Amino acid sequence: MEHKLLLVFFCLLFLSPLVSPQLDYKYYDATCPNLTRIVRYGVWMAIANDTRMAASLLRLHFHDCIVDGCDGSLLLDDTSTFKGEKNLLGNKDSVRGYEVIDKIKFDVEKACPSTVSCTDIVTLASREAIYLSGGPYWALPLGRKDGTTASDQNGILAQLPSPFEAFENIISKFTSKGLTLKDLVVLSGGHTIGFAQCSAFKHRLFNFDGSGNPDPSLDSSLLTSLKSVCPNQADSDTTLVAFDPASSRKFDNSFYKTLLNNGGLLQSDQALMGDNTTASMVMDYIKYPYWFSRDFGASMVKMSNLGVLIEQKGEIRKNCRAVNHY
Ligand code: HEM
Ligand SMILES: *[C@@H]1O[C@H](CO)[C@@H](O)[C@H](O)[C@H]1NC(C)=O
Ligand SMILES: *[C@@H]1O[C@H](CO)[C@@H](O)[C@H](O)[C@H]1NC(C)=O
Ligand SMILES: *[C@@H]1O[C@H](CO)[C@@H](O)[C@H](O)[C@H]1NC(C)=O
Repeated sequence: MEHKLLLVFFCLLFLSPLVSPQLDYKYYDATCPNLTRIVRYGVWMAIANDTRMAASLLRLHFHDCIVDGCDGSLLLDDTSTFKGEKNLLGNKDSVRGYEVIDKIKFDVEKACPSTVSCTDIVTLASREAIYLSGGPYWALPLGRKDGTTASDQNGILAQLPSPFEAFENIISKFTSKGLTLKDLVVLSGGHTIGFAQCSAFKHRLFNFDGSGNPDPSLDSSLLTSLKSVCPNQADSDTTLVAFDPASSRKFDNSFYKTLLNNGGLLQSDQALMGDNTTASMVMDYIKYPYWFSRDFGASMVKMSNLGVLIEQKGEIRKNCRAVNHY
């Protein structure tokens, strides 16, 4: 009797990877062999028109995944009976790239109709965007399905890190998903490309925490220039400033050097230097750029596996902006 139970136990142990469906590196090899080529072309075209789009596609993927998993929910438009995520605080007037995903989806549907999820397209597009920006490349397991629901504002506030919140909160938003402190440091390196609006860091320039003074952890010459780019008036709120002005289009490790020089735009980024553990990781990525390239790919794969829907748990949307209706 005990032997039989043991046997059943071992069979289940060895068969479990087979019976529980998983993402697969070869998922579309037979059904959409040109997928990577199509996505790369679409991202290349988008970046050729607007270099910032590389950063925007990476952020779109992050905001999709960190809120209730990678399920393409961020792509869904509002309707009279459905409220999506893209017009909620944290995403509205900030996340961009939806048209690029639509265009790629159109080309993918032409080549392989109803085969590739919008979520996998977003995932692939951010990998291609990093690669085309001079960054690393990594293998991606595929087979994510698209969700049919969206988070509400409270779900977004609870899961999406804010540039204004305490570092401990940001850490717990990552660790509650199974992402580590190291993943946080590595993925924050995504801020080596792209831009922030003045509204994301203006509170540091004039009256930090009600002190009447600027944030003391901000470099003083950067402070002077930021005050002139982002004057203390509401009409400067949407002005864009590069996270990594030395190379805002190149995916390299220089974002970490800005932190070392007290030049992080976001309070939440500069906070990486205020903690010994994360600061020593930052120092490592400055010293050994290869470690950053290698670790970034690994952490991106982890992030892109958060809460994925497989098999019948989701659908292959026809239009990335709307759930299918049958
Ligand atoms: C750790 C907590 C994080 C916070 C608090 C944060 C916050 C922000 C903020 C405030 C902006 C500027 C948005 C705007 O002004 O409209 C931004 C932009 C950006 N974020 Fe993050 N972020 C975080 C993590 C990440 C991660 C993990 C990634 C990707 C791996 C990422 C990628 C980007 C990119 C690429 C941009 C520039 C987008 C563009 O130029 O369109 N961020 N982030
Ligand atoms: C893949 O793309 C190549 C080059 O554009 C084309 O010749 C080929 O027919 C495509 N294959 C499939 C299966 O769509
Ligand atoms: C090119 O980029 C601009 C924004 O910089 C955008 O308004 C326009 O729609 C883009 N054009 C194409 C063809 O993607
Ligand atoms: C962090 O590093 C500083 C300076 O190297 C040191 O004085 C402090 O004791 C360290 N704190 C912890 C908690 O290790």
